[in-house]
Amino acid sequence: MRYLVTAALPYANGPLHIGHVAGCYLPSDIFVRYLRLMGRDVKFICGSDEHGVPITLRARKEGITPQQVVDKYHAMMRDSFQEFGISFDIYHRTSDQVHHETASAFFKTLYDKGVFTEEESEQYFDEEAGLFLADRYITGTCPKCGNPNAYGDQCEKCGSSLSPRELLHPHSQLSGKAPVLRKTKHWYLPLDRMQEEWLQSWILSKEESWKKNVFGQCKSWLDQGLQPRAVTRDLDWGVPVPLPGHDGKVLYVWFDAPIGYISATRALSNNWEHYWKDKDTRLIHFIGKDNIVFHCIIFPAMLKAHGEYILPENVPANEFLNLEGDKISTSRNWAVWLHEYLKEFPGKQDVLRYALCATAPETKDNDFTWKDFQDRNNHELVAIFGNFVNRTLVLTAKYFDSKVPARGELLEAEKVCLGALHAAPQLVSDSLEKYRFREALSHMMDLARAGNKYLADTEPWKHYKTNPDYVGTVLNVALEITATLAYLCEPFLPFTAAKLRNMINVPERSWEEAFRHTQFETGHVLGEASLLYEKIEDDAIQKQLSKLEATKSDREAERAAAAPADQTSLKPFREVTTYDDFSKMDLRVATILAAEKVEKADKLLKLTLDTGLDQRTVVSGIALHFSPEEIIGKQVTLLANLAPRKIRGIESNGMILMAEDADGKLVFVQPGRATREGSTIS
Ligand code: MF3
Ligand code: ZN
Repeated sequence: MRYLVTAALPYANGPLHIGHVAGCYLPSDIFVRYLRLMGRDVKFICGSDEHGVPITLRARKEGITPQQVVDKYHAMMRDSFQEFGISFDIYHRTSDQVHHETASAFFKTLYDKGVFTEEESEQYFDEEAGLFLADRYITGTCPKCGNPNAYGDQCEKCGSSLSPRELLHPHSQLSGKAPVLRKTKHWYLPLDRMQEEWLQSWILSKEESWKKNVFGQCKSWLDQGLQPRAVTRDLDWGVPVPLPGHDGKVLYVWFDAPIGYISATRALSNNWEHYWKDKDTRLIHFIGKDNIVFHCIIFPAMLKAHGEYILPENVPANEFLNLEGDKISTSRNWAVWLHEYLKEFPGKQDVLRYALCATAPETKDNDFTWKDFQDRNNHELVAIFGNFVNRTLVLTAKYFDSKVPARGELLEAEKVCLGALHAAPQLVSDSLEKYRFREALSHMMDLARAGNKYLADTEPWKHYKTNPDYVGTVLNVALEITATLAYLCEPFLPFTAAKLRNMINVPERSWEEAFRHTQFETGHVLGEASLLYEKIEDDAIQKQLSKLEATKSDREAERAAAAPADQTSLKPFREVTTYDDFSKMDLRVATILAAEKVEKADKLLKLTLDTGLDQRTVVSGIALHFSPEEIIGKQVTLLANLAPRKIRGIESNGMILMAEDADGKLVFVQPGRATREGSTIS
């Protein structure tokens, strides 16, 4: 059986966060590692998606070229994936020459076969900048809600999706001028026709084998009736349309990107056609749910129209992962960034892999919380898996000089345990074949749990003096479980697996080999034991929570500084909080002793406060509202026990409470008249 497994090519315009990882890269990696362990022929393909309008927007904003943008993020993502143990066979990129050639040729084939329809339409053109404007480059007034800053594709205030022609008073983001309508020609994939010809029945045939969420989304696209889709754009960044006389046109990013899977396979192997054109290959696309239509409808339509390619067998898309109850958002910086995690939790790749696999949004959106992350580590990896392995190895070292003791008569407890052991690989494997990663992980953990319970029940440490032979048997069985775990955990916890193999001195093996004979030879010499996992303390978790909290207050301060309050749109109340949570906040009256501007940060003031108990520094985002001189001597309300944090290299110890007055200017929340410093507020 041959497999080609792809993971969605991430856009090279920002770093990776845990939502990407849980949605697509971790499940695909687990699946591929499993296939490899089963000895199947598999290639695992990914790379950076380097075209599209957002990349040109970011380049413009940062004053660099699009190529510089993608170079930066391509390298960053590639390195993070690698460090996190995502085991792609190739991590390619769509700005590569091989890709440009592949995508051009693909388009040309469809063009020559007469697949596309051509259409002229009127689109907005910026006369001053001399180019057609992508939807995102046009802003104007939303026809639905009157928001003056709506984009050509969407109003972010009322959520309506728009087309540029619907905007009132449109203007170009490039020149600021009103754009004019100009005729332009584009090529369309006639999905409407394809739906009738074959696409509909092909998708309907997947009802049983595709995940419900995936099939359901496809079904609703079909029910609405597919429309022709433009596959080209007027833009100067992308794969040029390979037809003479069409300068300034490129392939639409969603046309070229999935072809990136093919380009990457070509770059990887001379044998690439086997993986794409032989009907014995299973093509599996791992993606997040926002990519479903492209992988289940549009790309298959392209492949079929081309004629030489196989179609995907399955598209096991995940739903979205939220963070601490809120949608992950790159623009709001509400995320856990993979590269930051790797830096802040060195050597703990498997902890995040475990936590994300256990909470993966497989069938519905799910929530990542730092508390859950800590619990998974402390109560599961440390207390069950790690504890079991450690006890087994330490006791074997102590009583048997790290040599596997002989196995004697098996009692009921041993039989139960070995029963679980022999059943586990099949259970894990069955779940993985069905893309049920959480279930597979819990089957693996159940074996560790059984082992842990076995030691707790048999208490070998109590019986060595009276019954060393039985203790030998217990440890022999516990070691067999350990060895089984070492192989069984590998798809999920590859770093643990490698460590554990060393600790019990066994080589890498396929599952077939590993599980055919799990029992050690008596006398097998073990390696050196070390801890697999360590407890994660509250302060490490608190640090992460404070970091998130800080992005929230930064955002609020920025917003307050940027825009005067809109009287008509007061924020709704936040969620109910408990008295206990509220009472954790230590609010105090403090007096500002000194204030100065922070260099190169026009919103920040560095304040020295007298809290009655100490003098401390607080950095506050109020410089646009107050000069340093005018606030010295003022009394303020201070959240005094907020975790310290560095702002522009200055450690800030607490936060000053502010309110907006009627004009949107910030004012201090103050006691009515002078009060003693350090007075509590409750
Ligand atoms: N870059 C897209 C995203 O992040 C995914 C592209 S997948 C591919 O949503 F198939 F087009 F490559
Ligand atoms: Zn609107």
